[in-house]
Order: sequence, then C-alpha cells, then structure tokens
Amino acid sequence: MSRPGGSLFSHNDSDMSSHIRGARSAKIWAIGGGKGGVGKSLVTANVSICLALMGYKVVAVDLDLGGANLHTCLGVPIPDKTLSDYLTKKVSSLNDLITPTAIDNLSIISGAQDDVGIANLRQMHKAKILARLGELNADYVILDLGAGTSYNTLDFFISADQGILTALPEPTSIENTYRFIKSVYHRKLKMAEELLEIGPLIDQAMNAKIHQNSTPADLMARVIEINPQMGHKLKAEIAKLQPKLIINQVRTQADVDIGFSMKIICRKYFGMNLDYVGYLEYDATVWQSVKKRKPLLMEFPNSALVANFDRIVHRLLNI
Ligand SMILES: Nc1ncnc2c1ncn2[C@@H]1O[C@H](COP(=O)(O)OP(=O)(O)O)[C@@H](O)[C@H]1O
Ligand SMILES: [Mg+2]
Repeated sequence: MSRPGGSLFSHNDSDMSSHIRGARSAKIWAIGGGKGGVGKSLVTANVSICLALMGYKVVAVDLDLGGANLHTCLGVPIPDKTLSDYLTKKVSSLNDLITPTAIDNLSIISGAQDDVGIANLRQMHKAKILARLGELNADYVILDLGAGTSYNTLDFFISADQGILTALPEPTSIENTYRFIKSVYHRKLKMAEELLEIGPLIDQAMNAKIHQNSTPADLMARVIEINPQMGHKLKAEIAKLQPKLIINQVRTQADVDIGFSMKIICRKYFGMNLDYVGYLEYDATVWQSVKKRKPLLMEFPNSALVANFDRIVHRLLNI
C-alpha cells in the first residue's frame, strides 16, 4: 500500500482545507452500529493501521464506554491517561492523552475506564470534544463508538465526516443495524427540523393520514407536497446521511449479498443512500491475533482479511 499522491491528498490540499474549515484539519471517521461483538473494534483498529501504512497520520480513539478494548486490537496496554482525565479536567488537552503504538504514524486515545464517561456528556461537551478531535495533529481520527443508540453515539456518528456501520450476516445483527439506522434517521430529522425551523410542517405531514405502512420516505414525499421549498431543503439535509456499511464474518456469497439487499431496503424505506463499502471474511486469524494481543494486519500480513481491508479502505478514501 502506498500513499495516494497528488491531487486528492497532497499536503497542500489539506493545508488549504484546514484554513477554509478553521482549525479542524483531521477527517473524522466513526465506526458504530449494532451490539457488541460485531467487529467495531476490529474494524477501527485495522482501518487505522491501513491508513497509517499508507503514510497518513492516524489517531484511533476508543469511545466504547462499556467495553473499551481497542488498545488490545492495537497491541498496546491500557494507556495510563484516558478520556476520563480530560472530562474531569485532570489534563487540559486531548494531546496529553495520545499514546503511540508500535506502528509508525498510529497512536491511540483510550476511552473512559470508569463511570465518569462519555455516557453522560452534555451537548456542549460533545460538540467541544468533536471540535478538539478534529484539531488533533492527524490526517485521520478514527472513533470506535461502541454499542448502542444513545444520543451521544448517534451524534458522534452523524457529525463525523464518515459514519461506518459494521454488521454480521445474521438476522439479529441485521435487525440491530436497521434499528441503528432508524435512530440515526430520526436524530438527523430532529436536527434538520430545528435547523430549518419546520416543526409544524413535519407535524402536519405526520398527522396526515397516509396509508398504513407508510415509511420515512413517504413522510418526506408528503412534506415536499405540502411545502416544496422547505421539503427539498429537508431532503437535502437528510441526504447528507450516507452511512457506510461493512458486513463482517462472511462465509458464503449469500452473506456477501446481504449488504446489497440492505442497501436496496434503505433506499426504499428511508430514501437513504447506504454505501456498501465491502465485507470481511470470517477468519481464524482474527481471534488468533486477539489472543496474542497483536494487531491482525501486522501479525498476519498474508491473511485474507488484508485484501478485504485494503479494498474497504480504498472505497472509504474514494480511490
Ligand atoms: N472476521 C472475523 N473472523 C473471525 N472472528 C471475528 C471476526 N470479526 C470479529 N471476530 C470475533 O469477534 C470478536 C468481537 O470483535 P470486536 O471487534 O471486539 O467487536 P465489537 O468491538 O463490535 O464488540 C473478536 O474478538 C473476534 O474473536
Ligand atoms: Mg469493541
């Protein structure tokens, strides 16, 4: 893997965009969705490693309150300083939390290890943390969001430059993933409603008797019917939601195809573009590397998963 040259990611480009976007210069990618055990930490760790091997400066951040274990996937002990120390003001800068890993260009910020955690962040803190994360001296900041659909998790997912979902090819995990997407949709709708000040319009559309199984896509059509101008603005806001999907632990072609079905269903039901960026095979090297507490891509460079990750990262980088 090599650093893509020239037009897309040259230093000049990022310098320029950091001026335009204020202090924020790092791109933030958030990995979320579903329950525990679907591979969020695996994806966070190995996407981070791929980017670091390509020459980008990467900080991986563990925001999984209940089960912080990103450090294990990256082969480092629990860092002494965690986000809790920042939230309780024991350290004043996120930079003080950065711990290097054995991999060039890759460091980690560890999540809260106690109750003083991400779970209780207020809106203001959340916005501040996101802004500070974007100011870290890095090209990419990769967030391991952990399980669940708390507002915090949803807000980090929505506000990131890319929100990436991991799902397993089994009914329970697929259901959980739709539940997450639905929560993201509703949260975004609420944000757009406030931004555009169109609460009454949405209420009117919701109260209108449409057919029994009406979908969020139907609701949008109804809003546009009532007020085309605001309706299209709302649609444009919602269209900014373009979650990425990774299907993990695939064993058959049918498993791979689940991602394509989910894409179609999201388009139909939510009117949302779910971008299926690739799959990861079920592979014994994953638990072997976890057992050894070594990063998969470094420990098993010939694993089938290396090719899987390479493809996914190229899709995410749009190259
Ligand atoms: N592609 C895979 N092949 C084999 N085992 C996997 C794979 N992905 C995940 N696992 C297993 O599932 C466990 C949970 O993965 P993890 O990334 O910790 O999930 P999460 O962060 O979503 O809780 C891993 O420790 C590993 O044993
Ligand atoms: Mg995890």
